[in-house]
Amino acid sequence: MKAWQFRTYGPYSEVLEWSERALPSPQIGQCLVKTSAVSLNFPDLLVCQGKYQEKTPLPAVPGMEGVGTVYQAGQDSKFKIGDRVVGFCHGGGTLSEYFISNDDSTWLVPNHVTDIQAAALSVTYGTSYFGLFHRGNLKANETLLILGGAGGVGSAAIQLGKYAGSKVIAAAGNEAKLAICKKLGADHLINYTNDDMVSAVKNFTNGAGADVIYDPVGGELFEKTKRCAAWDSRLVIIGFTAGSIPKMETNRVLLKNMSLIGLAWGQYMKRRPKMVERCQEKLYGLLREGLIDPLIFDTLPFPRAIEGLKMIEQREVYGKVVLTI
Ligand SMILES: NC(=O)c1ccc[n+]([C@@H]2O[C@H](COP(=O)([O-])OP(=O)(O)OC[C@H]3O[C@@H](n4cnc5c(N)ncnc54)[C@H](OP(=O)(O)O)[C@@H]3O)[C@@H](O)[C@H]2O)c1
Repeated sequence: MKAWQFRTYGPYSEVLEWSERALPSPQIGQCLVKTSAVSLNFPDLLVCQGKYQEKTPLPAVPGMEGVGTVYQAGQDSKFKIGDRVVGFCHGGGTLSEYFISNDDSTWLVPNHVTDIQAAALSVTYGTSYFGLFHRGNLKANETLLILGGAGGVGSAAIQLGKYAGSKVIAAAGNEAKLAICKKLGADHLINYTNDDMVSAVKNFTNGAGADVIYDPVGGELFEKTKRCAAWDSRLVIIGFTAGSIPKMETNRVLLKNMSLIGLAWGQYMKRRPKMVERCQEKLYGLLREGLIDPLIFDTLPFPRAIEGLKMIEQREVYGKVVLTI
C-alpha cells in the first residue's frame, strides 16, 4: 500500500513522502480499514515534528481520523469485513491507503452520513462537545466566547454552542473568518487582530464577561483571553495554535471564582470509551436533524495532502480540509 510517511521528525513539507509501506495486520480488538476519506487536523503538523503528545515509532504516518470500510477484522473485533467505519488514531496513522484502528476508537458510520462528513466530524466535534458540555458545563443562556472561531474545533464549537442555547461570541483573526463565524450562527463577532477583545466582550455582556471561554489558540492573546472571564466562569484550554503556552495567576482564578479546565479529548478513548461512543451517536443525531453540519473548506485527492497541510499551517482554512481516495 501507499502512505504519507516520515522517517525523521521535521516540518511536514520536508519530511513527508508518499511511498510504499507494508500492509499492517490487525491484532486482537483491531481492524484494518481501507481508506476512503481523511480529514486533516492542526495536530498533524505537530505529529510530523515529534511535538505531539502521542508518538508512534518511525517511520510513521500522520492523520488522526479516517473513514473507510473494514478490510480485515482482528481476533475478537466487534467489526466485520465491509462495515463502513470512522476510526480515530491518536498518534496518527490514517494518511494511508489502509489504516489500523482500535475497536474502542472506531465507530460505525450511519447511512445518512457521507464519508466526507464522517471524516470531518469526529475530532473537531468530539473535542468541542466534550470541551463545552462535559468539561465546560455550558448551559442555555450562558455567554460562550470562542477563539479561533472559524477553525476546525472553533467552527464546531459555534454550532454546538448555538445548539445548547448559549449566546455565542466568536473571535477570529480577520474579517473574512468572522463572516464565516456569523454564517455558522455566532451572535457577536470580535476581530482579535484589530479590536480590543476584553472591552468588546465586556460590551456584549453588560460588563459581566463570558461564562465559558473555549480557547484553542493560547499564545500572547491569552493575556486578554483570561480577562474576558466572568465571575463563576469556566475557561477551557483546548490548544495552542499561536505557538506558545500561556501561564495563569492563581489569584485571578480565586478572585473570579473561576475554573481553569483542561481537555485532552483523545484520552477519553482509552479511559471512557463508552462516553465517546455516546457522544459520537449524539453528534450523528444532531447532523441528521440539521443542527450541526461540518464546514468543509476544501476536498483534495490524497496525493495533494501537502497542499492541505500548508493551508492549515498558513492559517487559511475555514472548518476542515478533507482528503479522499
Ligand atoms: N484538547 C484536545 O483534545 C484537542 C483536540 C483537537 C484539537 N486540539 C487543538 O486545537 C487547536 C485547533 O485545532 P484545529 O484542528 O481546529 O486547527 P485549525 O483548524 O487550524 O484552527 C486553528 C485556529 O487557530 C487560529 N490561530 C491563531 N494563531 C495561529 C497560528 N499562529 N497558526 C495557526 N492558527 C492560528 C486560527 O484562527 P485565526 O486565523 O482566526 O486566528 C485558526 O483558525 C490545535 O492546537 C489542536 O492541537 C485539541
